[in-house]
Amino acid sequence: MKYALITGSSRGIGKAMAEILAAKKQNLLLVARTAGLLESLANSLKQQYGIDVDWFAVDLTEPGASVKILQWCTENEYSVDILINNAGYGLSGSFDSFSAKEQTDMMQVNMNVLVELCALFLPELKKAPAAHILNIASTASYQAVPGLSLYAASKSFVRYFSRGLRHELKHTGVRVTTVCPGGTNTDFAERANLASKARKAGEKVNMSSEAVAKIAINAMYAGKAEVITGFINKLGATLVWLLPKKISETVAAGIYNEG
Ligand SMILES: NC(=O)c1ccc[n+]([C@@H]2O[C@H](COP(=O)([O-])OP(=O)(O)OC[C@H]3O[C@@H](n4cnc5c(N)ncnc54)[C@H](OP(=O)(O)O)[C@@H]3O)[C@@H](O)[C@H]2O)c1
Repeated sequence: MKYALITGSSRGIGKAMAEILAAKKQNLLLVARTAGLLESLANSLKQQYGIDVDWFAVDLTEPGASVKILQWCTENEYSVDILINNAGYGLSGSFDSFSAKEQTDMMQVNMNVLVELCALFLPELKKAPAAHILNIASTASYQAVPGLSLYAASKSFVRYFSRGLRHELKHTGVRVTTVCPGGTNTDFAERANLASKARKAGEKVNMSSEAVAKIAINAMYAGKAEVITGFINKLGATLVWLLPKKISETVAAGIYNEG
């Protein structure tokens, strides 16, 4: 039986993608830290759609987390043909207000685990006649964002790595898609402790996790290379591309770099 493995599927965009895939009768493997949320989502999707769903609670900052996920799949004979690297979070504030451990933990989840899972699951994905890797980056990946500097840089990494990997895999059955959401109403802002100006700006333009998830899953099945969610976010990324970096960075600092 084939499965879609989704990291960060206990809540937010990851949960919404799980719900969309379940409605398409796709078997699912859910991964995040919060066992209670994963278990209740798995149970409700199994009941509602008659699909197979299992879950694995793991903190992706733990050393060896990616290997544990692969071992869990191997032991249970779960064959993955869709890998969705969605788990991620931000740290908002000046760079030196966080410890080196806090910084590298975020890099571990946003970047290293994503790379490790691509490396660990690629041999199996390549065996499938058609397979997908969907990596979730961010519109923050298009520019430096003072106040979210390392987060934005981690998402730039995701975007460039994913595009390169897509090219490398063009003669295989594996399609790599990168989706760049802008502000989305999830627990992200709370966990990142986003500045109040950024939250206020978000109130007017944020998308729902369901809308973002729908765009992401459609882009994945269409085999698209890179998709920015929503018109306003596309416009924003275009302006960032057109404007001198000093201007876009000063504007971002005014929104994200409070204090
Ligand atoms: N919301 C936005 O405005 C926005 C904008 C652009 C990009 N994104 C990106 O979209 C993706 C999904 O974020 P979201 O907005 O849906 O945020 P969210 O509601 O906070 O969900 C984040 C998911 O990642 C999981 N996660 C976080 N840290 C983890 C860890 N150490 N180990 C295992 N799982 C972990 C969380 O599960 P547990 O808490 O259960 O571990 C949760 O399922 C992220 O990559 C984020 O960077 C979000």
